[in-house]
Amino acid sequence: MDEAAPAVTSEPPVLESRGVFRFRAHDGQQMPVVRDVSLRLRRGEFATLMGPSGSGKSTLLHLLAGLDRPSAGLVLLDGVDLGGGDEEARARIRRERIGFIFQFFHLLPDLTVEENVTLPLRIAGERPRRHQARTDSLLRLLGVDGHRKKLPAQLSGGEMQRVSIARALVTQPPLLLADEPTGNLSSKAGEDVIALLREVCGKLGTTILLVTHNPRDAAAGDRILFLRDGALRPDAELQGGPFRVADVLHRLAELGI
Ligand SMILES: Nc1ncnc2c1ncn2[C@@H]1O[C@H](COP(=O)(O)OP(=O)(O)OP(=O)(O)O)[C@@H](O)[C@H]1O
Ligand SMILES: [Mg+2]
Repeated sequence: MDEAAPAVTSEPPVLESRGVFRFRAHDGQQMPVVRDVSLRLRRGEFATLMGPSGSGKSTLLHLLAGLDRPSAGLVLLDGVDLGGGDEEARARIRRERIGFIFQFFHLLPDLTVEENVTLPLRIAGERPRRHQARTDSLLRLLGVDGHRKKLPAQLSGGEMQRVSIARALVTQPPLLLADEPTGNLSSKAGEDVIALLREVCGKLGTTILLVTHNPRDAAAGDRILFLRDGALRPDAELQGGPFRVADVLHRLAELGI
């Protein structure tokens, strides 16, 4: 049936993992906390990942970001092995091609909003001024334009998270990974952040993988992946979102999550 498949499915994935394992010491034994994970994410796809606490979601996200190396298997970003090369080469790929959003924002307290957002450019040895138009449009897109001279402590949690999204996008990475970015936000601020991520996906063509415990957040995605005991459950995956929250809850109940 391959020849009948639409052209878009033959586009190479932005992110691919093949048979990824990560072992960790537990009671003196090496136990897999990520088991044989194979996945493919297309350009501009907004995928979410759900699973019980301790199921390996953060560990997997760190592997996919090249922040950690698989014990076995491969992670490919645009076909390039993230585990290959020396630490410097990997750091460069992470800096330039992957945005990462954390639950606790990780903004630098002594830098202004604008300085925080442009920090990845300075780290990459570029002059932020050369990218002023891009920075301006990101700050506008994320609705923090009016706060650019403020310090993080002068912002609400939702605003801080929107600043951290702008920072993750300033180098125009093809891939954005987010680990529970709404975990510390009010319900309304969390909803706004998810809506912004959807917009980013559509406008910038960024591929997003977002870890969440919140069925409403997951429902906003194009696809929901489920992880249990370190293994993906491809049979349970939901495709063709956005979804109804009730359908997400139903699938979670079926999986006992
Ligand atoms: N640095 C570490 N050393 C040893 N074991 C670890 C370490 N980090 C995580 N683990 C273990 O690996 C497993 C997966 O942890 P992980 O943080 O990936 O889970 P998670 O799905 O993100 O959970 P949560 O939803 O609570 O954030 C857990 O059993 C955890 O105890
Ligand atoms: Mg986690």
